[in-house]
Parts: sequence; structure tokens; C-alpha cells
Amino acid sequence: MKHTIQIPNYRFLIPGLIFLFLSNAAFAQNDPYMGIIPAPVSVTKAKGEFKLTPETIILVDTPDNKAVKFFNNYLKKAGYVNTVIDMGQVDRKKYSLKNTITLSLNFKGEMPLEGYHLQISENQVILEGRGAGMFYGIQTLIQLLHGSNAGYGSIPCAVIKDHPRFPYRGMHLDVARHFFDVDFVKKYLDLMAMYKLNNFHWHLTDDQGWRIEIKKYPKLTEVGAMRAQTKIGRAAGPDSMLYDGTPYGGFYTQEQIADVIHYAEDRYINIVPEIEMPGHSLAAIAAYPELSCDPEKGYKVGENWGVSQDVLCPTDETFKMLDGILLEVMELFPGKYIHIGGDECPKIAWKKSDFCRRLISEQSLNDENGLQSYFVGRIEKYVNSQGRSIIGWDEILEGGLAPNATVMSWRGEGGGIAAAQLGHDVIMTPGSGGLYLDHAQSKSPQEPLSIGGNAPLSKTYAYEPVPAVLNTEQQKHVIGVQANVWTEYIATPEKAEYMALPRMMAVSEVGWTPPANKDYTNFSQQRLPNHLGKLDAAGFDFRVPIAYGAEDTTISGGNFKVELVSPVAGAKIYYTLDGYAPRETDLEYKSPLTLTIPEHQTMHLKTITITPSGKRSIVSDIKMEN
Ligand code: ACM
Repeated sequence: MKHTIQIPNYRFLIPGLIFLFLSNAAFAQNDPYMGIIPAPVSVTKAKGEFKLTPETIILVDTPDNKAVKFFNNYLKKAGYVNTVIDMGQVDRKKYSLKNTITLSLNFKGEMPLEGYHLQISENQVILEGRGAGMFYGIQTLIQLLHGSNAGYGSIPCAVIKDHPRFPYRGMHLDVARHFFDVDFVKKYLDLMAMYKLNNFHWHLTDDQGWRIEIKKYPKLTEVGAMRAQTKIGRAAGPDSMLYDGTPYGGFYTQEQIADVIHYAEDRYINIVPEIEMPGHSLAAIAAYPELSCDPEKGYKVGENWGVSQDVLCPTDETFKMLDGILLEVMELFPGKYIHIGGDECPKIAWKKSDFCRRLISEQSLNDENGLQSYFVGRIEKYVNSQGRSIIGWDEILEGGLAPNATVMSWRGEGGGIAAAQLGHDVIMTPGSGGLYLDHAQSKSPQEPLSIGGNAPLSKTYAYEPVPAVLNTEQQKHVIGVQANVWTEYIATPEKAEYMALPRMMAVSEVGWTPPANKDYTNFSQQRLPNHLGKLDAAGFDFRVPIAYGAEDTTISGGNFKVELVSPVAGAKIYYTLDGYAPRETDLEYKSPLTLTIPEHQTMHLKTITITPSGKRSIVSDIKMEN
């Protein structure tokens, strides 16, 4: 992917576009965060700018460092021709420090974990950081270079000191409901890296598909990776039984997974693989019916969405197979965490099973919730024995929490709060907090099919991961935040991008930026438009926000002044006053509108924003009545 953007040539633009582009540029000048997402901890702006020219030399003290290599590759791909020089191999005196960018890992002094210092003066740029810190400093540098609009590149002078608020900053992707190939997963990782997100939660198995090759149990993919057909539209209600009649599937070979892990490591992203159990396991049961409590029943890989009643039976045979699967998973994935699911496990099959009744009695458990706890505890013991830790969805609290488990709080924050109070680590990912990116991005019927809900960008941005009810000690157990992209209603890479963007940028700021530096107006109106402009040019899909100032509302009065801010750099805003949906053949917004409504009359100002690549916002509607 090429990260360059086309800077519009002002001379050939019509006046309206100048207004819009300059308005974004003007905002950027006033922006205390220099356009950077996520907003850094501290930015001290200074006069002047560093001019990157073809003669600028990149001095490095650790040329083999992967962050440094990432920067070299970036420069090459983006068409920069600068020479990179290993400081250790040359006589420093030969190089005046003028017109240099220095990347230093071997500096003296302390640095917060994952932190960096970036000093930009007219003569030189110095970036200091270790490990991920160097990588994140480079991401900031790249964003600043992108933001420049003077020829080869220029960066305004400043001192930036930065480090993340939380160690865990995650994005999830469900590849079971719909399969996303390696190229897309890498694109997703590219986005995560740009926005300093460091944990990719890969939801690899579910009722509707098993997506990871397990050599010991080949039927998991031979049978479990393919469903006969897929539900069309929403999960079936009484009025809808439409299926597409088309076999659907896909899985990753272990070789492909290793390649993705390597790609992620190069971007300082850890991958958390999720193998769902004991619920959401129908694809595995279809492959190996002996995993269920009723092996004779007959199973097929899920074709509709929802929660399957058929779940794994807690027999020794099941645990033996799960241990074998997890061993291969742990041999592949080097990270600390293995996610074992644990959510939405109906107990009907266990209640019907003589075996489960006996097990509950033998183990002196209270009920089937106790059995779920027994299940997770047994798996945890095995994962711990291999030197790893489990993460589970908050249902793993029910019936008693496994001793070392980290809890992902998705059904609100209650599970996370309870787990933190018990001294367990917690990752906050509540759907109610705007972190379910499969939820619609507005209430408008113009939004594409989604699971429902309403999680606008502003809601995701406003999420605060540390509940006030926790005391200081308990708060330390909130290790971070994650947004989830469930894909029942997301069948294509384009739609995955549409649902993830721009909300992923808000998640990035929730996970990274100190709360005191968060400011939604600054984020959405001063910084985001240029980022979306770049993504537009780079071929990403995203939801085009409604022009700021044009959001649906009803206002009363006779005279109105309407001032709009473009949500995407370079985009055009068209409007109508006649009640019809605007398109590119309508009036273009160029400067604030002054509108007069006669008494007892109503007028609608409808807008649409269209980006340079042709992406369109939904149509907004301001009803003005007098
Ligand atoms: C979940 O959304 N079932 C974790």
C-alpha cells in the first residue's frame, strides 16, 4: 500500500474547493496536536519548519531495528530517495547535523514504556524511542510528513513527548461469520499500526466456520471451514427464511498464519487468537460430533446467525482434543494470551445429558454454571501449564472465575468491574460503550444492514475505559480497551472498512491519549478530515461522516446561518433546499449559507458529502421551521 497523498494544486481548483480545503488546512494550523491521531501526551509547537529534501540524510544508530527498517521501506515505497546512514559506520564529523533525521534507540535516560520523544527544528529532526516507542515515533513522523503540503515535505517545528495510556489497545476481527483473506488481514494490521493499536484479536472459530488449520484434527477445516449456505439479511424471524444456497468457506493454513504473525510483529502488534469454547463451537462439532453431548444428533456448520444450542460436552475426550488444538495454536502464536471465548453458552444440552449431571455431582458443582466454570478452569490449567494466560468473555465469571484469567467485558462494564474487584486484569470492550463496530453508525435508515444499535463516532470517542467505581488499585487492572468487528452482516472487505473506519481512530485515541487531551470537536473537525482524505486517496473504504453542522435536527426561527465543516479533506458538500436528496448535480456548498424562512413555512436543508474518490455520505436533513 502506498501511503502518499495527492496534494491538490490550488491554482486549478474552483473557489469552493479552496474554501473547503483551506478551511481544513486552517483548522490544522490551529490544532494543538498537529493533526496527529491519536493525540499525543504533549506537543510544544515552535516557529519554523524542517524541510525534507532529497538531500536530507537519515542517521540511524540501530540499522537492523525493525522499526527503522519499517521507516526505510516506507520512504522507498512513498518515493523518497533519502540516504540512510548507520552512524556507527561513518565518521559523524563528516556529516553536518544540518538537514538530518536521526533515529536513535541507544539514547541515554528514561522513557515511558512504548514512548518516544520527537524534536523537530529547522536544521534537524531527532527521534528517540526504544522498541515499540521508536515504531510509534515513526508513525507520528509519517503522519506529519503526510500532513505537509510544501513540495517534497516539510514538518512544522515542535517537541513531542508521547506514550500510551493503556498497554492493551485492541482491534478484533471476526473471520468466522465471514472469512477475510490474508491480504485484508494485513491491510487491517496496517491501519492498526498507523494508529498505534497493538493487539489484534483474531476471532478464528465460531458456529458458522472454523478458520485455522489444525494438523492433528484435519476435519476441523475439511468439514468445519465450509457451510452449505448463508442467511440473507437479518437472522431469521418468522417472516424471513431466505438463504443464498451457495456454499461458503475459507481458512488459513498454518503457513499463512505464521506469515500474518510475522507481519504483525514487524508492526509491534501482538495477535490474540480466539478459539471459542464451550459455546459457539458448532463448526467443530459438525466436524467431530463426538465433541457434543449427543453425537448421534446430526450436525452441520451454522448457516444462520445467533447462538447455537449445540455446545461442547465437558468429557475427557473433548478436553484431550481441545488440548491438542490449543497446543498447535500456542506453537504458532508467540503471545502471552490465548482467548478461549466462553461467551453465550446455552446450558440446554448439558441439562439433558446424564454425563453432565454425573460430572456436576462428582465435582460437587452447584449447577451447569459451575460446569462452565469447571470447563474454563480445566482449559486455563492446561494453557497456564504451557506458560500462557487465558482471556475470556465476561461470562467466564459465572460460576466462579478461573484463577489467572483476564476478562473481556462486553456486556456492559459490570463483568469488568467485578473482575477488577477480584484482582483480575480486564479489557473493556462494552457494546454499550460504542465499541461494537458492527453496530450502525447512526440511526438513519440510510445506513447499510447491520446488527442494529447506534454507535456513532462521537459515542466511540467518548468511551472512558476506567469505571469510576473502582478504587485506585482496582483501576490498575483495567489494562486497556478494544473494539470488536463482528461480521454476520459484513461480507466484504469494503464493508469491514466501512464499519471499522473512522471509529477505529476514535478507539485509538481512547486507548492512547490522556483524558485531559481528548476533545471530540478537535478530533473530528480539525484532525480527522485530513486522515480521511489520505485514506480516500489510498483506496480505503470508510463511512463518510455527515458534514459538521449539517447533522439531522429541527430548528425554529426565521433566519438561519449555516456553516459547515467538511468531514474529509478535498471532499465536496452538495445541498438542496427543495426537499429532494442532493447529489453532485445540485448546489455546492462553498461558504456559510444565510437562509430566511417565511412565517408558517418549513424548509429542509439536505446535504451530501462526496469525497474525491466518489465515496458518499448519507443524506442529512435539517428541518427549519418558522
Ligand atoms: C460477544 O459479543 N458475544 C462476545
